[in-house]
This record gives sequence, C-alpha cells and structure tokens, in this order.
Amino acid sequence: MAGVRCSRAIRPLESLVESYVIVGSHATNALGVMHGGNLLRLMVDHASASASRVVWSYALLAGIDFVYFASPAREGEAIRVASWALSAGRSSVDVAVRVESLGVPGMDVGSRLVALGHMTFVAVDGSLRPRPHHTCITPKTSLEESQAEKSKALREARRKRLEKRKEEPFDTSPPEPPQGGARAITSKIVNPSDTIAYNVVHAGSMLYLLDELGAVTASKQARGPVVTGFLGPLDFYRPVPVGYVISAHAAALHTGRSTVEVGVKALAGPLGEPWREAVAKGYITYVKLDPAGKPSTIPSDARLEPSREAKARDLERRRIIAMIEDGELDFTPPSQAS
Ligand SMILES: CC(C)(COP(=O)(O)OP(=O)(O)OC[C@H]1O[C@@H](n2cnc3c(N)ncnc32)[C@H](O)[C@@H]1OP(=O)(O)O)[C@@H](O)C(=O)NCCC(=O)NCCS
Repeated sequence: MAGVRCSRAIRPLESLVESYVIVGSHATNALGVMHGGNLLRLMVDHASASASRVVWSYALLAGIDFVYFASPAREGEAIRVASWALSAGRSSVDVAVRVESLGVPGMDVGSRLVALGHMTFVAVDGSLRPRPHHTCITPKTSLEESQAEKSKALREARRKRLEKRKEEPFDTSPPEPPQGGARAITSKIVNPSDTIAYNVVHAGSMLYLLDELGAVTASKQARGPVVTGFLGPLDFYRPVPVGYVISAHAAALHTGRSTVEVGVKALAGPLGEPWREAVAKGYITYVKLDPAGKPSTIPSDARLEPSREAKARDLERRRIIAMIEDGELDFTPPSQAS
C-alpha cells in the first residue's frame, strides 16, 4: 500500500488463531442456540489475537464491515473458530473470522458455516492514538492472494463511510425510527470486568450489549422471537474507559418479510457527569423465527417502509450474503498447501 513502510512481513497463515468450543447452555439463548452476543465476543477475541500477531501489541477494534450469521450453533455442538489477518494499512489490520459447526461430537455430519466476519483493528500508542505497525502482510499461496484482494476491495468500499468518522462522536442524537418503529434504551457502567487492555471497554462487551438491545427492539417490532442475522457496518469511534457510563440506543429502521433492521448507537461519558459523546454506531439485522426455528412473516401492520439509506444498506447486505453463499467471498482459513 502506498506510503506504508514495512520493516517486517508476515503471511496470513502466521496470524491464524484457531480453537474448538463446545456450545454449553451458559452461551445459548431461550431458543437453545448460541446467543449472538456470545458468538460475537468469541469471534472478536479470536480476531484480536490474530491482529496482535501482526502489530505486536493489543489492537483496538475500529470497525466491522460485516458479520453474517449463516446458521445457528446449537447447544452441544462443537464449533471451530478461526481468524487470520488478510491485509494491512499503516496502523490498521483487516481480519477474517470464520465459525463452523462440526455437529454434536461423535456424529460425523461434516461442517456447516455458522458465521463469517471481516473486521478492522488499529494499533495504538500509550495515548490510544493510532500508531504505524510497520508490518506488511505478504500472501504466499493463491488462496491467500485472492483473499487479500477481496479484503482490499472491502477496505476500498468502506472509504466513503469512514470519511465522516471524525464528526460522528459529536452527533449524540439517538437513531430515529420511522413512524410505528420500536425503540429501546439501556445503560451500563464500564467495570474492570469489561476490559481486556488499556483499561477501556472490550469490543466483545460492547457488542454483547448492542446485540442484546437490538434483539429486544427487533422482537418488539416483529412481535415474536428473533435471532441475529447480519451485523454491519458498525464503527467504534472512541475508547470508553472504566468508570464511564454507556447509554445505548436502538431503533427499528425497516422491515423485510421476516427481517428487522435495527440502528444502534452508544453514547458515553464519565459517571455522574452530563457530558456525552457517541462512541459506536452501526446496524444489525434480525430474523423473526417461528416455534420450529424457521423464518416467520412479520405482521403487515408492523412493517416499516425503508428510507433511501435503508434500501441501500439492504442491497449491500444482500450482495455480501450472496457473495458468501456463492463462495465468491472465499474466506476459508489459510493452510500450508492452499
Ligand atoms: C480506532 C481509532 C483509534 C481510530 O482513530 P482515528 O482518529 O479514526 O484514526 P485515523 O483517522 O488516524 O485512522 C487510523 C486507521 O484506522 C482506520 N480506521 C479508523 N476507523 C475505522 C473503522 N471504523 N473501520 C475500519 N478502519 C478504521 C483508518 O482507515 C486508518 O487506517 P490506516 O492507518 O491503516 O491507514 C479510534 O476510532 C478509536 O479509538 N475507536 C475506539 C476503539 C475501541 O475502543 N474499540 C473497542 C470497542 S468498544
């Protein structure tokens, strides 16, 4: 990349972090499938470890282009979580995370895609400002090369979204639903148990909060239980230190046949002070399920007409999902051979 100085090069395979987890009841929701917030936390933890292999320190999660939840992981199933770095900028690293279910241990059912994500971490200095990491990612195999190209295309595609990020912290207005749209609000104090590094809230904790708030909003709108279907884009503007209060807002923005798109925004400020700034903002789409776990139609009087922006996001979401389903977005973990 132009203007980026490399004093070190690593290939994607060297950043691969992999683990196997059996889905226990502590990680599931009322439907007996893995809670979206728990899955997101697991994915972010793996991706953080991959990013840290590139930047040689703990990196902050700056943004998520997408996480697609392809199928539920049920209690008792073994899941394989794999993350690896695909491309790097001056201070940033783009990471893919893939979760597959291998079914209930002992039953040979092959593997099934559970979730796939593409997210960006940023190396920071002691003041939590971006610092150059001087590491280049050099693909060795054709798979690594093709994935690096796709990651760079995603990086290019988010350029427009990021142009506004310097002003976003000052816009503390909550997301506004259209007429008839549900909303919900929650608050939480950032405690040491919410951090992993730098004494600021861990992205996994923030995502858990936003996903759960979004699910409450979506199920209110859909009038029935929902599961997380797609997250993104979602950006983190400012780190939130221990002792701050997060006030998270969600609004149902538009509905499809069985889906509800929810806008989420987190504001933060020191405990006991009126000052507030926006620290995260994004979109999460939920799918309404019937008692058999199949997508279920949202009642016509609960439908929300999309705005022009919501229509554009819907198209982009469908484009990404189609690319994943067709294998065009071939984010499978690198190996020595491929
Ligand atoms: C991430 C953060 C340090 C970036 O700060 P910034 O002022 O936007 O920094 P810059 O404009 O210098 O951009 C730095 C790099 O981050 C990238 N970046 C910034 N925001 C991004 C986003 N939302 N998504 C993807 N990349 C992003 C830029 O493209 C740039 O990449 P490069 O250096 O490789 O060219 C800042 O937004 C932040 O602290 N956010 C909160 C992070 C956090 O606490 N995460 C935990 C979640 S609660």
